[in-house]
Amino acid sequence: MEQNLRIPGPTPIPPEVLHALSRPMINHRGPEFAAILERVETQLQHFFQTTHPILFFPSAGSGAMEAAIVNCFSPGDHVLAVTIGVFGNRFAKIAETFGLRVTRLETPWGHAADLDQLTVALADQRDLRGVLLTHNETSTGVTNDIAALARIIRQRQPDALILVDAVSSLGCVDLQMDAWDLDVVFTGSQKGWMVPPGLAMVAVSPRAWAAADRATLPRFYWDFRMAKKSLDKGQTPYTPPVNIFFGLDVSLEMMRTEGRDAIFARHQRVADLTRTRARALGLALFADPAYASNTVTAIIVPDGIDGKALTKALREQERVVIAGGQERLEGKLLRIGHLGYVHDTDISACMDALERQLAALGYRAQEPAYEQ
Ligand SMILES: Cc1ncc(COP(=O)(O)O)c(C=O)c1O
Repeated sequence: MEQNLRIPGPTPIPPEVLHALSRPMINHRGPEFAAILERVETQLQHFFQTTHPILFFPSAGSGAMEAAIVNCFSPGDHVLAVTIGVFGNRFAKIAETFGLRVTRLETPWGHAADLDQLTVALADQRDLRGVLLTHNETSTGVTNDIAALARIIRQRQPDALILVDAVSSLGCVDLQMDAWDLDVVFTGSQKGWMVPPGLAMVAVSPRAWAAADRATLPRFYWDFRMAKKSLDKGQTPYTPPVNIFFGLDVSLEMMRTEGRDAIFARHQRVADLTRTRARALGLALFADPAYASNTVTAIIVPDGIDGKALTKALREQERVVIAGGQERLEGKLLRIGHLGYVHDTDISACMDALERQLAALGYRAQEPAYEQ
């Protein structure tokens, strides 16, 4: 029996894509690769909802976070980091590491960024060069309202760059780069794209290009300008993960066939199913229901249950693999990924297994389920 991989990335890969991944190698500086690169960029623009160029870096998602910072800013630049969890904190930390002046706007974990607090925070700032946002905070299962946040930022700080970590949401949840006037938007191959880890994809607005020309932070590997120069020749500056491109070429075609709106609707449906099944078990959800993520659901480990023992039993007895909590939420959360190649049957099987293994550990549902 195949594993039911229900972590929020890396995600399962469809058979057609697995097949494509094993194609014989080609010259990464030849015409075949250039054709793939062009197709992949065009397809991605549809999902980023942008006409801006998309750059490719062989890396994890965190590489894209660093790329965004080093290309947009100079030492001492002031940025506002809106953080609602582990990945928002990582974005802020990267900015601090490179010598930026970082003001943090923090929200209690489990909640989305507050629009009124953002309004106040922006009014107080002078010389603000950028705002760092997380679209989908994978550690807490919360999706920020980027459209509303960006609108406020544009009203108060029209020249600030808006950088959006969309690693665990793009391709699954609506994000309109151009319509919402976002400047740098990035994602990682191992999340909604149905391909293995190893490729970061970064879209860059004209405002961010101008900033990249001015910015003085040192950069080599992550240099947007170098990546763009290569892109224009149908190449990447360094050896790309060719197989991932083979896979993406196929997975994006599958995504286009299914349709963007149909994909968003499927993610909504599997997320609703996950939450409904969890609540029916008397389990409490961690995220504010108004902002609950459609790509990952965080469930509070019930009292008296050892979360580690539960995930171990799921893995060993059921071949269902879920994630736990991160950092201060370690041992306190179960996280179920439902992004990319996921259908109702995968979630039903996962929740059936969860029900069995909770029962085996002596869990009895208490009513009503507590929610934050
Ligand atoms: C929202 C978000 N940002 C950034 C990252 C970092 O990606 P990576 O682990 O590929 O570096 C992740 C990974 O889970 C993520 O979920």
